[in-house]
Amino acid sequence: MWRKAWCFLVVSAWGVGGLDAMAGPGNGAKVAEQCVSCHGARGISSGPLWPNLKGQRAEYMIKQLKDFKRGVRRDPMMTLLVQSLTEEDMRDVSLYFSGLE
Ligand code: HEC
Repeated sequence: MWRKAWCFLVVSAWGVGGLDAMAGPGNGAKVAEQCVSCHGARGISSGPLWPNLKGQRAEYMIKQLKDFKRGVRRDPMMTLLVQSLTEEDMRDVSLYFSGLE
């Protein structure tokens, strides 16, 4: 019985990993779906403490996202959020927001 439960855990962890992998190259708009509740659908944020990302430099954003992930920059929301992002996701989503007009 325990063996079955263990299998289930492994399979569900693998399933979640699979979802991550699907957000592959050029998938910035898809990754951005996790960001729009705070940073706005068009990159203009919906709260005074949430920065606008529209038109922001991609290189700068990639660096910030990496810094959040490494713990060099900390924010209760962002630090948590970036944990599930790959380097590719960070690049794609940064290019997406920087390219919004
Ligand atoms: C729950 C709200 C929330 C969500 C969702 C969210 N962010 Fe943020 N984000 C913030 C806040 C708050 C800050 C400002 C942190 C600080 O004060 O240091 C921030 C900062 C940033 C910055 C740095 C901006 C700057 O000018 O330095 C980037 C880049 C960023 N977020 C990208 C993203 C991306 C990409 C996503 C989606 C994967 C995302 N955020 C999702 C709240 C959020």
